[in-house]
Amino acid sequence: MKQDLIVILDLGSTQNTVIAREIRDLGVYSEIYPHDITAEELKSFNNVKGIILNGGENRIVDGRPVEISPQLYDLGIPMISIDYPQSKCETKLDALPEQDILRTFVFETCKAEANWNMKNFIEDQTELIRRQVGDRKVLLALSGGVDSSVVAAMLIKAIGQQLVCVHVNHGLMRKNESESVIKVFRDELHANLIYIDAVERFLGKLENVADPEQKRKIIGSEFIRVFEEEARKLEGIDFLGQGTIYPDIIESGTKTAKMVKSHHNVGGLPEDLKFELVEPLKQLFKDEVRACGVELGLPHDMVYRQPFPGPGLGVRCLGAITRDRLEAVRESDAILREEFAKAGLDKKVWQYFTVVPDFKSVGMKNNARVFEYMVIIRAINTIDAMTASVEKVDWDVLEVITNRILSEVENVNRVCYDMSPKPPATIEFE
Ligand code: XMP
Repeated sequence: MKQDLIVILDLGSTQNTVIAREIRDLGVYSEIYPHDITAEELKSFNNVKGIILNGGENRIVDGRPVEISPQLYDLGIPMISIDYPQSKCETKLDALPEQDILRTFVFETCKAEANWNMKNFIEDQTELIRRQVGDRKVLLALSGGVDSSVVAAMLIKAIGQQLVCVHVNHGLMRKNESESVIKVFRDELHANLIYIDAVERFLGKLENVADPEQKRKIIGSEFIRVFEEEARKLEGIDFLGQGTIYPDIIESGTKTAKMVKSHHNVGGLPEDLKFELVEPLKQLFKDEVRACGVELGLPHDMVYRQPFPGPGLGVRCLGAITRDRLEAVRESDAILREEFAKAGLDKKVWQYFTVVPDFKSVGMKNNARVFEYMVIIRAINTIDAMTASVEKVDWDVLEVITNRILSEVENVNRVCYDMSPKPPATIEFE
């Protein structure tokens, strides 16, 4: 059942995930572990074919260099060292380029098999989920985002009607987003799906709230409240499905990592609602999650959709949210996405969206003065969302989008293009 495994021990490198990805790209499964893993733990995996000691700039912790347990050298498992001076490994492949070093080590030294692929992964996970859950039930908040959609599809395959999906429409979804979740999951995959129309509730709570942080807090906490109310109505549910992915685990799990992000899982559900977690994607990187979604038969648009913030259009309808501006954001966003897809930019640009500020400007329609809102278009490219550059969108494409927004979106008389890189601007406006 288990694939061959190459273990990367984190000895202070910032390149652990890069190497894990490179090995997985060779078709061999790879996982990152902290430097102080014991020989017993490694032995208990039963499938470790090789160990990579991955040293680097963060190797000094509390004034001392980190070291591995000496018993690891006695396991008889092939080892290679990358930038780890204390290494006692014999394998010396330093003269080769990195990809060749890894290939030679993985296939020739460790004799690992290239048996890591999505089909095997899904088969394995299906069995693991069935073993964990038995005949009990799993609850899942299905937002329609990539991770929750792929988890849902995986759980439907494994346990069918024992999965209860809850989709909360908070009124800040993109155009037709909730409809598409219902169509795919209820109509096509026959999921047990509860749809909650909480539009009025959210918009009511957000009325007159202009502060961006306050808006985000209200949306987040209200979401948990709605989900909690639904969970309490349902009986006999022991598990909570989570779209945790591998970067969430390693960012919060390594001991030498400089930037530690807390692992966002249950997200504030009250203590007395005790669930065991089911996290079938926790070994996957984002692109592997997408490949898994494709293998599970989810639509391309759902699996390859661009990042979308949790608070949705709420942070793109700037200041205090009003229904007219929210509609303007939703409609202009739909037009932008349609035209980007027509121009092939949807495959090229990392993230693109529109925002509507909370002020008006003077304009003219049908020979009469109007005082209306503006739509700002933002299209950026980035690798890790920490910095971003602006996409140089073709002028003709921008003209088509502008003309469509001006003629099709109500209450709008002006369209602007945001030229600001990150930093100093952030990707989102709020
Ligand atoms: P900023 O605006 O910080 O955004 O440059 C960086 C990336 O994160 C996305 N983003 C969010 N994603 N929940 C999310 O899941 C959020 O609250 C959130 N806020 C921003 C943003 O769209 C961009 O891709």
